[in-house]
Amino acid sequence: MKNKIILSLLICGLFSSVSFSRDIINSPEKSLMPIGAYYYPEHWPEHQWERDIKRIAELGFEFTHFAEFSWSRLEPEESKFNFEWLDKCVALAEKYGLKVIMCTPSPTPPAWLTAKHPEILVVTEDGFQVKHGMRLNANGSNPVYQQYVKRITEKLADRYGSNPVVCGWQLDNEPHYEGLYDYSPFVRSEFQKWLKNKYTTIENLNRAWGAAFWSYEFNNFEQIDLPNKNERNNNPHAKIDFKRYSADAIAEALRFQADVLRKKVSSKQWVTSNFAYYKFLPSVDLFRSKNDLDFASHTMYLLSTFLDYPEGKLAGRLGSGMELSFSSELARSVKGYTGIMELQPGQIDWGSWNSQPLPGAVRMWIWHSFALGDKFVCTYRFRQPLYGAEQFHKGIMEPDGVTVSPGGSEYVTAIKEISQLEKLPREKTIIPKDVASRTTAFLWKQDNMMSLETVKLTQSWDTWNHYYTYYQKLKTMGSSVTFIQESDAFDVSRYPFMVAPAYEMVDENLISKWKKYVSEGGNLILTTRSGMKDNNSHLWEAPLQHPIQELIGSKIEYFDQLSPQEEANVVFEGKNYTWNVWGDILSPASETEVWASYSDQFYKGKPCVVKNKIGKGSVYYIGVATKNKELEKQLLRKIYTEGGASILDLPDYVFTEYRDGYWVTVNYTSETISAPIPDSSTIVCGKKEVAPGGVAVWK
Ligand code: GAL
Repeated sequence: MKNKIILSLLICGLFSSVSFSRDIINSPEKSLMPIGAYYYPEHWPEHQWERDIKRIAELGFEFTHFAEFSWSRLEPEESKFNFEWLDKCVALAEKYGLKVIMCTPSPTPPAWLTAKHPEILVVTEDGFQVKHGMRLNANGSNPVYQQYVKRITEKLADRYGSNPVVCGWQLDNEPHYEGLYDYSPFVRSEFQKWLKNKYTTIENLNRAWGAAFWSYEFNNFEQIDLPNKNERNNNPHAKIDFKRYSADAIAEALRFQADVLRKKVSSKQWVTSNFAYYKFLPSVDLFRSKNDLDFASHTMYLLSTFLDYPEGKLAGRLGSGMELSFSSELARSVKGYTGIMELQPGQIDWGSWNSQPLPGAVRMWIWHSFALGDKFVCTYRFRQPLYGAEQFHKGIMEPDGVTVSPGGSEYVTAIKEISQLEKLPREKTIIPKDVASRTTAFLWKQDNMMSLETVKLTQSWDTWNHYYTYYQKLKTMGSSVTFIQESDAFDVSRYPFMVAPAYEMVDENLISKWKKYVSEGGNLILTTRSGMKDNNSHLWEAPLQHPIQELIGSKIEYFDQLSPQEEANVVFEGKNYTWNVWGDILSPASETEVWASYSDQFYKGKPCVVKNKIGKGSVYYIGVATKNKELEKQLLRKIYTEGGASILDLPDYVFTEYRDGYWVTVNYTSETISAPIPDSSTIVCGKKEVAPGGVAVWK
């Protein structure tokens, strides 16, 4: 069976490396990973445009990016359009051999528009309308706003939709609402419509929202307000539905623009949007745009200070490679490929503090994106602005416009290094056996996060952290991770392992898909809180986590939590591990294997981690969440080894990936590490010993 699985994986690998034939920027034969830079002509005097655009090309960039915030220049007054400046810049890009990503300017409506239609502006939870001067301040679902968005988008499409210099379109910018959710009167009535559509009758809604509790019942949909924490709405089901509505509405606004464009632009031009780091935008769900975009691109500022950093004295200069990795693999999973639309070019100016990156770090980030399979890397931005909200944000050029910045030099280095690879003979690449054997499906349902974050149950619960624990440890084994959804095929031949951490809301259909996956040979890893609720976020009228009991071969008697100051212990393979976030107390069936048990508390001796064999596969239940993630790491290593995978043993924050025939290791730790390069390999960049911020590439 194992051999069969590996054979199909190899075939899939062959397919996945050739199935995507569309040229994203330039043909893959020409360049493995084109690199580009944003240019804002509207920020610079016209006489500098040619000098700057020529320089972009001379430095080795293959494309640029225009117009995402330039509505006030494209339509300075209502219905008075001016595209001449953009025409000139597109022509200059062509003259110097650059491709252009063209953007719709919807994140920044012009002053005449917001003055005329203040009703399009979003309202914060405190009740303040977000005024002109902030971006993403208009609600993209508002039909009034949509008419203006449609008109400017159509004008752009008519003008550039068949121009071969324009390779594709970016809709909006990092789609979301300023302030995360919109509490405007417009949204109140839209939310009511959405609810009516979902529940049909008010009785259904009252039932789904458990509205009998605290007399929350409604007589009609018109009575329903937006769940606002400042107004003390405390119904979890209403809150979750509001999050669902908002994610649907953001996706619908993107769909609107994509449809407008597609009617007019050449089919050779692709349509994407640049999704910002998801962790901070719970109201955005990339997968809700799956059928509307050619692919999802992503943006990443690794030193923004809001991310998960490794320990070590250089951590704040090397950034969070784990989050770059997660972001890329999540975006890639939407349509099978991605590109990074914004990658930090050096120091930024909007973090809680803004450290200089370690020399070499910018180059490492580019190589890491390469390693993750990104089809292109684009940096925000070519020139450091002299004015405006991001004045101190580094660009590829210093403020003088002619001196290359330190980060800019690292871009130039990476461009040259990657182009060296292009000169090497390229064989048809198939995914190596080892990689195939540890490929993992991460089951992803954003609605679970909406539910878990609404009802955390302990202040120590952090859904992202729980997901990261598993994701991070998968990366230490060199696992390639694809995020799949319930509606996708659970294909054992493609994904010998599936993790579904804290997969709270389940239904019968999912349970039977899981059963089939496992009985066909899959290894399914479930963790705390999985199967606790139905899709309305209600508990089952049954024992705790009833729907997964048969799968995991165990009852879950109850769960426990400790204060952040306390610690308790579990024993796994004779070793002690501490925990304090979450502990499930299990009561397994006799044939279920017990892997770890509690070694203290009044439930001392009770199991918390079990393995249950079903058909050709196994289900693992990890009913404990630790603080330092060490237990989870050791459990995953054992699960993968027993499941027949060949795994690496990388330190946390060291990443090794395979792409297009090359292996790449990048090092975000503060120590020099040794890359897992076999003696038979040829090193094409760097060396086996990889310093902090360093890169090794081998064939
Ligand atoms: C991004 C945003 C860009 C720019 C950048 C600055 O999140 O999409 O427009 O503001 O941050 O680092």
